[in-house]
Amino acid sequence: MASVILLAVGLSIVYVLTNHLLRLRKNVLAARKSGIHYIVVPVYFMERWWLIGHRLLFPLLKKLPRSWTRWVDFTLPEFTFDYRHEVFKRVGHDTFLTVSPGGMVMYTCEPPVISAITTRRNDFPKPTHIYTSLDIYGKNVVTTEGDVWRKHRKATSPPFTEKNNHLVWDESIRQAQAMLSSWVGQDGQGHQTVDRLMDDTMRLSLNVISAAGFGRRMDWPTSETQSREDETGYIDQSKIKNENRDIDPGHTMSYTYAIHCLLDNILLQFLLPRWLLSKIPDVTAKKANEAYHEWGNYMRELLINKKADIESGVAEKETNDILTQLVKQQLIDTDAKKKGQLIESEVLGNIFVLVLAGHETAANSIHFSALYLALAPETQRRLQKDLEQIFQGRPPSEWEYDRDLPSLFGGMAGAILAEELRLVPPVVGIPKSTMEGVGPQKLTVGGKECLVPANTYISLCTGAAHRHPDYWPTAKPRLAGGHTAHPIANIDNDLEEFRPERWLLSESPDGTTRTADGIPIETLAKEDDLGVNESSDTSDRLFKPVKGSYLPFSDGYRACLGRRFAQVEVLAVIAVLFQNYSVELAVDKYATDEELKKMNNDEKAEIWHKAAEDVRELMLNGLGVIITLQIRGGTVPFRFVPKGQEKFPDNIDEIWKKNHPDQISNKGVPGWSSWAGAPQRENGSGAFDLFGALKSQAK
Ligand code: HEM
Ligand SMILES: *[C@@H]1O[C@H](CO)[C@@H](O)[C@H](O)[C@H]1NC(C)=O
Ligand SMILES: *[C@@H]1O[C@H](CO)[C@@H](O)[C@H](O)[C@H]1NC(C)=O
Repeated sequence: MASVILLAVGLSIVYVLTNHLLRLRKNVLAARKSGIHYIVVPVYFMERWWLIGHRLLFPLLKKLPRSWTRWVDFTLPEFTFDYRHEVFKRVGHDTFLTVSPGGMVMYTCEPPVISAITTRRNDFPKPTHIYTSLDIYGKNVVTTEGDVWRKHRKATSPPFTEKNNHLVWDESIRQAQAMLSSWVGQDGQGHQTVDRLMDDTMRLSLNVISAAGFGRRMDWPTSETQSREDETGYIDQSKIKNENRDIDPGHTMSYTYAIHCLLDNILLQFLLPRWLLSKIPDVTAKKANEAYHEWGNYMRELLINKKADIESGVAEKETNDILTQLVKQQLIDTDAKKKGQLIESEVLGNIFVLVLAGHETAANSIHFSALYLALAPETQRRLQKDLEQIFQGRPPSEWEYDRDLPSLFGGMAGAILAEELRLVPPVVGIPKSTMEGVGPQKLTVGGKECLVPANTYISLCTGAAHRHPDYWPTAKPRLAGGHTAHPIANIDNDLEEFRPERWLLSESPDGTTRTADGIPIETLAKEDDLGVNESSDTSDRLFKPVKGSYLPFSDGYRACLGRRFAQVEVLAVIAVLFQNYSVELAVDKYATDEELKKMNNDEKAEIWHKAAEDVRELMLNGLGVIITLQIRGGTVPFRFVPKGQEKFPDNIDEIWKKNHPDQISNKGVPGWSSWAGAPQRENGSGAFDLFGALKSQAK
């Protein structure tokens, strides 16, 4: 008996191995035929066991000689962001394939390739199978492809109007003022340490999208409601229940709580099937499931009410939130009853995905902008000068969208947003493919006619394209602190550094605007009504990157629908935060306020430098993706202080540098680790060359 089992196990292993080898052989042949450079790796990065378990294998893999495990670099989920342009330099190609038994992936940071792929939407569709988890309320504009997507896009783009952007502007200003006063106190004195910037910016963007998205205004929690919040930062249900408020009749959760609880547990919602989630006895799972139903019900009621209001003429003519427009155009407008209107569950699916796509992304932009500005006091002063010129001291109640927004967009605020999105784009690998039955696709790669194999997963590597030294003007590295901004990428230039000034045309190094010199620009074939805005991501008054080298909002037909929405929101918030206040690093960890008061600038520089290093370390090691790229490894504490009352001089970094002339070198941030510990700057591809490795080991 035992021998039979042994035989069966043995045979299965042989079967699986042979199967893998045959599939690998087939893929290698296809890759060879493609003409695109390729690297063979043993695992497909999307394989579940690898995605979940690869970290557990690190201790084992680290024991093996590096030459055996170079391939690991090419199977990590976010490796093109971790290594940035360095990994393409290492391989020697801006576009390459990884080939494994499980499938092929094409990584590219090559602007003409990126631009061709985003333009040819029918040839390079999105791999929709990876998006199905976003369908929890229904199919929508993010998760579909082809004709179905066209229908969704045609339905969802008309409500994104300039009139809606006015709402975004007003609400962003209102919310930002409330957020700011929660940080600086009623007296506006500031000087208190704030370490909930990420949570607060998420709350702000959620409130903005609630108001401008579906006409549901949410207020910033007062200190009274704040004290009722539970440890997850949101309002504790049971306490509210007792007070019997906020919860609409027929509901078990308040609207605010439902949406926060839903988004807080979004991974559970995505990973577990609904029937399972409802059966798990765990409290979190139970709440998550309840929140799913509760928010869905709130939205359905809102839909019904809107419909009734519009039909009975109660609704004001000038209601410009997105949901009202959607309901009007999709569920009511029967004269135009063209086929292809959305049904109710699809409206709901789209509303959910707008919340999801729009709240974390915009929140990140505000958070990272503040963080980078805290590290760059001189840039912050330049922003504040710019704001003084734009607003001339006018209070927010007198700010005007039509006049002031273009000034923000074309000035320092716009440059800061552009630069922040260059460095930390929320989507670091924009997914495309030759799946969905489109077959192999001709494509010019590295100037050569190639053939992308069928069923290839494609990743447009924003993190590397945004820092490609061949396509961006560069200057010498300037970061003080004794090292470069990234340990191995772009160590001889400043592309890893936050320097919004690079976007100001007057300061561009060669004094010229670089357009797509010599690079063929693909233009979109005419397709109506899809709300594709072909204008560039930045103001005409700012530097214009080469086409395909800058795509924080993606590009082409599938570009972000909420780009303008997000820009209006972030710029308004930056203006509110920095009109009268400065952000500084909180250094409580290293000195008390009393101690700081007694210090001279040299001593302060030592303290500031330590806090700055903590932040730089976090930006290097602490970023991770769940929905978007965010800080996951900790929080950064800040102080907001009235302008002019900063504790540290603007040139604090220069002071430190002057005092430590010996420590200026390209030695990389201490402690930076990829999976294998601080990697050497290495040459050679990561090909899985087991035999070569064995040979070199034997020598
Ligand atoms: C700084 C903020 C934002 C950034 C950087 C950003 C970025 C992106 C990117 C990279 C994509 C393409 C994703 C993919 O191909 O898988 C995308 C798509 C999308 N975004 Fe945004 N987004 C932002 C804010 C928003 C906001 C505020 C909204 C809505 C209110 C929004 C709505 C959408 C929608 C609906 C799509 C899908 C469009 C389609 O496939 O036709 N985004 N966004
Ligand atoms: C900044 O200060 C001015 C003058 O006190 C005030 O009118 C304005 O409302 C303040 N701005 C913000 C964003 O609070
Ligand atoms: C396209 O976007 C630009 C910049 O965001 C904006 O100025 C312009 O009004 C938009 N065009 C349309 C047709 O929405």
